[in-house]
Amino acid sequence: MSEKSSFDNRAEDWDSSSMRVQLAQNIYDAIVKEIKLTKEMDVIDFGAGTGLLSRNIALHVNSLLGIDTSKGMLEKLDALEMDNIVSCYGDFCEFKSVKKFDGIVSSMTMHHIKELDKLFEKMHELLKEGGFIAIADLMSEDGTFHGDNDGVHHFGFEEEYLLKIAKAHGFKEAKYQKIFDVQKEGKDAYGIFLLSAKK
Ligand SMILES: C[S@@+](CC[C@H](N)C(=O)[O-])C[C@H]1O[C@@H](n2cnc3c(N)ncnc32)[C@H](O)[C@@H]1O
Repeated sequence: MSEKSSFDNRAEDWDSSSMRVQLAQNIYDAIVKEIKLTKEMDVIDFGAGTGLLSRNIALHVNSLLGIDTSKGMLEKLDALEMDNIVSCYGDFCEFKSVKKFDGIVSSMTMHHIKELDKLFEKMHELLKEGGFIAIADLMSEDGTFHGDNDGVHHFGFEEEYLLKIAKAHGFKEAKYQKIFDVQKEGKDAYGIFLLSAKK
């Protein structure tokens, strides 16, 4: 994995976008509506970034492990100084752990991951029996969401495609729901979904 991530340069200003803060808040609201989080749970946030989602999820669980390929973004996550958040630098798909987790959350990261089979295999491997996934990202879009599509491997995701891949990797009760539309300046609205499922 290359040491430098394009997100490193964006880390400083990441949280100054009210659109991003609101997006993460709406995703958090949808996750807590769908999943009962408890103080016994150990949860992973992959692509945790500066912690816009992690910091809210961490309030309800025992521990939150934020995994990210950008050291710059993780410096911001560490700067939150939340006792139960631990950061981990690296590619989530290559993450190894003997410990199993109660849940995996993620916000706006899956479209940056090229091989979805690897991602779903890894999530299944890391979860306890009955553990959950709650992943939010863009619904199918025309490639205009990002100004620069470098590092964007998917222009959003279709329901049928994700439900099929979740099932193929052994997940049960998979559900794809549209949770809201995000408006970007001068552009049409983009749909955001939440994919939830259990091991
Ligand atoms: C669009 S940002 C979202 C950050 C945060 N979840 C949020 O909602 O503000 C995507 C993040 O995923 C990270 N990322 C991309 N590919 C990754 C991978 N394979 N494993 C872990 N993190 C990854 C990037 O470094 C970046 O911080």
